[in-house]
Amino acid sequence: MIEVKPSGQACGATVTGLDISTPLDAATIQAVRAAWLEHHVLAFPDQSLTDVDLERFVQSFGVFGNEPYFGTIEGSEHVVALTRKADEKAPLFAENWHSDWSFMADPPIGTCLYSLVIPPVGGDTGFTNQQKALTEMPAALRARIEQRTALHSAGAAYAPDGMYGEKDQAAGRSMAIRYSEDAREVHGHPFIFRHPESGRETLLGCLGYIIGVEGMGQDEALQLILELYEWQTREEFQYTHKWQENMFVMWDNRSVLHRAYGGYDGYDRKLHRITVAGDPHKFLTPSAA
Ligand SMILES: [Fe+2]
Repeated sequence: MIEVKPSGQACGATVTGLDISTPLDAATIQAVRAAWLEHHVLAFPDQSLTDVDLERFVQSFGVFGNEPYFGTIEGSEHVVALTRKADEKAPLFAENWHSDWSFMADPPIGTCLYSLVIPPVGGDTGFTNQQKALTEMPAALRARIEQRTALHSAGAAYAPDGMYGEKDQAAGRSMAIRYSEDAREVHGHPFIFRHPESGRETLLGCLGYIIGVEGMGQDEALQLILELYEWQTREEFQYTHKWQENMFVMWDNRSVLHRAYGGYDGYDRKLHRITVAGDPHKFLTPSAA
């Protein structure tokens, strides 16, 4: 019997009573999807998954997303390894809040991770609930982003001179990051949109991948994006996820931001990841409110 236990924080729940290494019927997948939409982040502890199992379960929720700047593991076109070695000196990966690949024309609707090696300390993943952040947002701040288009780009991260570009590769990062000139492309997405499945209003992305506001001067835009970021990442909207080995986690990129935490120097960490793609037109429908 599937059991869903909320974290008690701003989002997140643990799902037990389900072996996701075996094919599941449509009603069970639907129950998981409903819990995912309600809690935004689901953790399934004590799962023993091969990469084939991982791909099968993830495919129950959509089609495989593209990984524009990561190499996949040998033997799979979709699985990416998130790795950090005990003695690695490159800066921590993904330490800033973000929504995965929000700079794409068609961002992934969700991201799935399966933990293989987890350090005994540190290495948490932070989440912040963007439906809650928007619901509780002061009207004056909301008015400044209403009907506005945010400009997203990966240039500062994945261009050759970006955070994960040439210099980073020279620092000996163990992850297979493939930087590219393409990262400088810019895509506009509404700040506020209506979640196509839950029908609730939500926010997409934040400072970092958001680099400007369409039709607004850059000084004013950066001030707005920064003020928004401070609101989006307030502690009361957060859930801090603690990992165990052999845990599967899936989150909804349409309703949460996430970030990595360090604190595990001297220990290896390794997870396998797959993103889930969705319908771009549905994903990015601006809110009519
Ligand atoms: Fe991420």
